[in-house]
Amino acid sequence: MAKNIVRVCCGMTCGITGSRKIMSKLEESMGLKAGEQNEENDLGFCGCTGYCHMAPNVVINDNEIHHVNPDTVTKDVEEEKKKPAGSEKPPEATAEEIMNLDFLGDL
Ligand code: FES
Repeated sequence: MAKNIVRVCCGMTCGITGSRKIMSKLEESMGLKAGEQNEENDLGFCGCTGYCHMAPNVVINDNEIHHVNPDTVTKDVEEEKKKPAGSEKPPEATAEEIMNLDFLGDL
């Protein structure tokens, strides 16, 4: 069993905000394809985690990182692996934050 479980959200919001690019970067850095694992990492996609307002999201050992950038995801995931599983609780979104989202602004 791998030491770290890494999941890239492939829900609709994360999908349109870059989950495929994020997965490509992680595949390259880990030497794995989505759905594969080695002793260190188990890499795959997951469904919507409920934090669409902070997309794109990646889950590492029950901790979630938000607003993930493909250019920094490798470093961010390595930092997150050092934290205890489940130690990070993301903030809840307000209705105003959700209503003001511009998911397609960069497309
Ligand atoms: S689609 Fe990724 S958190 Fe909802």
